[in-house]
Amino acid sequence: MNCDRRQMMGTLAALALGACSTKPASETSSTSNAPSPTMKKDSFGKLPDGSAVDLFTLTNAGAFSVAITNYGGRITSIKFPDKNGKVADVVLGFDTVDGYVADNPYFGALIGRYGNRIGHAQFKLDGKTYKLEANDNGNSLHGGKKGFDKVLWTAKDVSTKDLPALELTYVSKDGEEGYPGTLTSVVTYSLSPANELKIDYHATTDKNTVLNLTNHAYYNLAGAGEGDILGHHMMITASKFTPVDKTLIPTGELKSLDGSPLDFREAKAIGERIDANDEQLKFGKGYDHNYVLDAKGGTLTQCAMVHEPKSGRMMEVLTTQPGLQFYTGNFLDGTIKGKGGKVYGHRGAFCLETQHFPDSPNKPSFPTAELKPGETYQQTTVYKFSAM
Ligand code: BGC
Repeated sequence: MNCDRRQMMGTLAALALGACSTKPASETSSTSNAPSPTMKKDSFGKLPDGSAVDLFTLTNAGAFSVAITNYGGRITSIKFPDKNGKVADVVLGFDTVDGYVADNPYFGALIGRYGNRIGHAQFKLDGKTYKLEANDNGNSLHGGKKGFDKVLWTAKDVSTKDLPALELTYVSKDGEEGYPGTLTSVVTYSLSPANELKIDYHATTDKNTVLNLTNHAYYNLAGAGEGDILGHHMMITASKFTPVDKTLIPTGELKSLDGSPLDFREAKAIGERIDANDEQLKFGKGYDHNYVLDAKGGTLTQCAMVHEPKSGRMMEVLTTQPGLQFYTGNFLDGTIKGKGGKVYGHRGAFCLETQHFPDSPNKPSFPTAELKPGETYQQTTVYKFSAM
């Protein structure tokens, strides 16, 4: 396949239409010598209470590997080659569990019970007010003080012949962090031969409750710790977003992105407009906004695409969720040293968190985030990696 980058970089949309594609790593290696997909289990250290933590490394039949710890269900590394075959790790994180316990901006984590913010750290359900931990300017962020990112999940190898897969389960007690109902969450990470990381989320409850599960990996396609992400090109398939107030709680409006520096329907460098004179960008200190996906949720649809021109690395995101939080690491300030001692500077990564809209429990006009006994919460997100 001959792909001319000059032709290609005008817009990533062409890629969405299949104008240029890369072969999955498994197709580039000779079938007879192709290694089988594997899952390896190692120790990742101990929590302060002495509990042992594991690290699971999943590798497909090619050069694509993802490591996940059962502490917070966190993705600790994603490795794949650039356009010249040079492999790099593209997510921020730490070498052992100690780093995750000490420095915790949710690197790689499974977030629950509620991803992003709930205004005034409370919500009403069936006439009753539930009070949550206010851990962010009077609001509740990412599940409270001890969210799903800080608990030990039970891990099970559910790999098949072709797909390495890890199933993680966590049972959250009725009333945990203020949320009603015993909530059983099962999250499965699996790797396809086409260099896709698939995350399937399931949950059930024994009382009416609300939830919003997501993954909070921080990506830098040039490699974790290799500078900022302002030169990455981003495309997001959304014509509206949910504007926020200065504490980053949605106002309730679904606002058109026409003429806005937040509009990424056409691929643009992240840095091109990030410091534009725009109230929303000021509130977020950059991009930190929920995009209302055009696809509306329900079926697995592509919602974002990112390309890093120097390495040629590329990531596509597909989801069944109605929203996508695009966050540009605005609160990273160079004080965190991660894997291999690398410093994670301001805007040194971006997050694409597929989700229900922030503060939905207090916004009846948003798609509901409620779950009732007898129902199954189910959503899938796929991150697909390639290079060109
Ligand atoms: C939020 C940011 C927050 C970050 C924490 C993102 O999902 O939108 O406001 O600072 O998580 O790491």
